[in-house]
Amino acid sequence: MVFVYVCAMVACVVLFLPMVMAGYHLSRNKMLFFGAALFITLAVGVHLTPYFPSISRFTPNAPNSSSLASEISCLAYVDHVRWQNRALYVPDSDGFDSSLRTWDWARSDPVLSCGFQKLGKKDVLDLLNGSWVLVAGDSQARLFVVALLGLVLDDEKMIGAERDLFKRHSDYRIEVEENGMRIDYLWAPYTENLTIAMSQLESESRRPDVLVMGSGLWHMLHLSNPTDYSNSLFSLKRSLVKNKLVGSKTHGYWLGMPTLVNSMLNTQEKQERMNSSTLEAYNLEVYRSKILHGSGGSLLLLDVEELSRDCGLECTSDGMHYTKVVYEAALQIMLNALLIESEQRI
Ligand SMILES: *[C@@H]1O[C@H](CO)[C@@H](O)[C@H](O)[C@H]1NC(C)=O
Ligand SMILES: *[C@@H]1O[C@H](CO)[C@@H](O)[C@H](O)[C@H]1NC(C)=O
Ligand SMILES: *[C@@H]1O[C@H](CO)[C@@H](O)[C@H](O)[C@H]1NC(C)=O
Ligand SMILES: *[C@@H]1O[C@H](CO)[C@@H](O)[C@H](O)[C@H]1NC(C)=O
Repeated sequence: MVFVYVCAMVACVVLFLPMVMAGYHLSRNKMLFFGAALFITLAVGVHLTPYFPSISRFTPNAPNSSSLASEISCLAYVDHVRWQNRALYVPDSDGFDSSLRTWDWARSDPVLSCGFQKLGKKDVLDLLNGSWVLVAGDSQARLFVVALLGLVLDDEKMIGAERDLFKRHSDYRIEVEENGMRIDYLWAPYTENLTIAMSQLESESRRPDVLVMGSGLWHMLHLSNPTDYSNSLFSLKRSLVKNKLVGSKTHGYWLGMPTLVNSMLNTQEKQERMNSSTLEAYNLEVYRSKILHGSGGSLLLLDVEELSRDCGLECTSDGMHYTKVVYEAALQIMLNALLIESEQRI
């Protein structure tokens, strides 16, 4: 028992110190350095003791053999966020009242020790220096891109970017001057569109460093057929494997569907077809398709349904699209997950 404690203490110091430092400077080279430090630590740790089954940033408060032996990773806590009302109401420039609600990571034990933080412009420019970020999907994915651009562009460039991005049903690309990062948005409302986009990557010499995608709302509205949706997800999964977008350098994320507030949906067709039982059936197919991390796949779920539900009714005006604070939360969760995964994969 004492031996386990000693090991845990050593692990705390050697694992946690580089993590905290890495939190300040997120550039690739530095991450490489910390990753290497981590790797050596783990290699030594694995030889010293059988009690290190998983790579983890998690440092337990009162370590014991059963908690160390369980597969605890900060990745499991990265979306543990809490919402609250802002003390002061400050209207946005676009008149949206997104600032009524605010969020932060839960102040509970495992979450706190993971040291998650909202990344600012400089951190993101550093972290994604030279990277290619590909986001594909429907209007939810577009709002996610808006959140990302809002973090890296200045206000003036942001106005132009939003104008281009919201041209109806069009693709969008930008190169961010400061760090050579490329951001692509592909209008891909159906899973089939995602599958085609993935197969088109075959001819590219390069794979995206970060891939974010999602589908479902359009299918639900126009086809309302969970079985057919399921089939489309299996094709997408095959395409991801075939085009080496899983288990490679690409970090993949699945942008989940939002909470649908039936009474607020703006057409009768939407109200009839996009009901909670259908949404549930569609979400079940996403899990069954084994496309998600944790159910046999590689894409980490960005749980927009939960984020939007917890943000609440004041965060939506049409029961489907939410104010930007919801997508900002999804983005920050992704960025923190990206940090953890980059460290683990080196
Ligand atoms: C050890 O950890 C497990 C799982 O976290 C917990 O249930 C148990 O109470 C802990 N035991 C002690 C002695 O702290
Ligand atoms: C991005 O990386 C290049 C080459 O490693 C470096 O010269 C540049 O300063 C970096 N830029 C930022 C914003 O980190
Ligand atoms: C997306 O897929 C649908 C159904 O397969 C197709 O009708 C549509 O043309 C595609 N749209 C784009 C932008 O590729
Ligand atoms: C939900 O939508 C589906 C598909 O359009 C429909 O078959 C079902 O009757 C609806 N359920 C409810 C409770 O409205």
